[in-house]
Amino acid sequence: MIMKPIDGKPTALPRHARRTTALAAVIALAGFATHALLAAPDQPAANGVNAAEVAQADGGNRKAPSAANSFNRLLKKPASSANAPPAEDGIHDPANPGTHSLQWPSEAFQDLPKAVDGNRVDWVKALNEGLIRPWYNLEDPEEEAFVLDLDIVREVKGSMPNVVYPHEQHTQWLDCSNCHDEIFVPEKGANQISMAAILLGQKCGVCHGKVAFPVSDCRRCHSQPKTPEQLKALAEKSSWRNVGESKSN
Ligand code: HEC
Ligand code: HEC
Ligand code: HEC
Repeated sequence: MIMKPIDGKPTALPRHARRTTALAAVIALAGFATHALLAAPDQPAANGVNAAEVAQADGGNRKAPSAANSFNRLLKKPASSANAPPAEDGIHDPANPGTHSLQWPSEAFQDLPKAVDGNRVDWVKALNEGLIRPWYNLEDPEEEAFVLDLDIVREVKGSMPNVVYPHEQHTQWLDCSNCHDEIFVPEKGANQISMAAILLGQKCGVCHGKVAFPVSDCRRCHSQPKTPEQLKALAEKSSWRNVGESKSN
């Protein structure tokens, strides 16, 4: 990935930018819209629209919208097939000659473990099987990730299995500061998370559905079956029973 400094001079990344490099590496790996995410305001966005112009037309008080990075709230199937060639993926600019020298994802991904959705690669397995080795720090290829093995179980309202949030699979690529404190306060139960927020691209949805496996893969997050006690408590307050009771009154 090439990060072009705004003034055109090649510079080392400033210290404060280092923390975002692990996330940037993930984005690049997942073959998503690095161009749109990292483009300076004076560079044309992938869809050919100048980002600064869009921002101005918009009153300048919102972030410029980008087709490449907009959230797929209705889980529609993408117009291009999964892992289309770069010039046809709707993300890279086909008029840019550089687009045509990029390796096709279908070739790059062919020996990686498969997943059912997203870009069809199980990136967690790919990493754990040593098939990919993302740099944790762009300035230092030898730096190892600071991995935290801590699962947070979120008991889910209703009958869906509970959500297990694993720190381990996240901190293998991400820095603590990618999530704390801006997305999540680091305190179990302190954050209000709902499916609606996730589908709107907030909380887990900041990444899932964009650069990490999509929201349609329910069981990868909702992975812990409810305990018999939790199921019993659910049945007791079930609305079906309440309906029956109100009828017999
Ligand atoms: C991908 C996002 C993400 C990353 C990266 C991340 N965390 Fe968390 N962290 C969470 C979430 C989600 C919770 C649970 C919050 C809740 O339940 O409301 C949490 C909770 C915590 C807690 C509270 C645990 C408790 O029992 O109260 C601590 C401490 C914590 N994280 C530390 C870290 C550290 C240290 C790192 C880096 C090594 C890190 N986190 C990286 C998302 C993240
Ligand atoms: C800052 C980005 C980010 C946020 C926020 C985030 N994730 Fe992830 N998550 C990832 C990445 C990257 C991976 C690994 C790549 C992949 O699986 O697509 C991952 C992997 C996972 C996995 C591992 C699946 C497996 O196969 O082992 C689970 C489970 C998961 N995330 C759940 C969550 C939940 C629940 C939340 C919200 C509480 C959340 N994530 C928030 C980026 C994020
Ligand atoms: C990226 C992880 C992730 C994926 C994928 C995911 N969920 Fe969730 N889901 C969550 C989290 C986190 C919560 C909030 C749990 C809590 O209350 O703390 C949640 C909550 C829920 C709830 C409870 C009501 C609510 O809105 O909070 C339902 C129902 C639900 N999910 C259904 C689904 C279904 C159906 C799918 C698949 C289409 C799905 N989820 C996919 C993480 C995920």
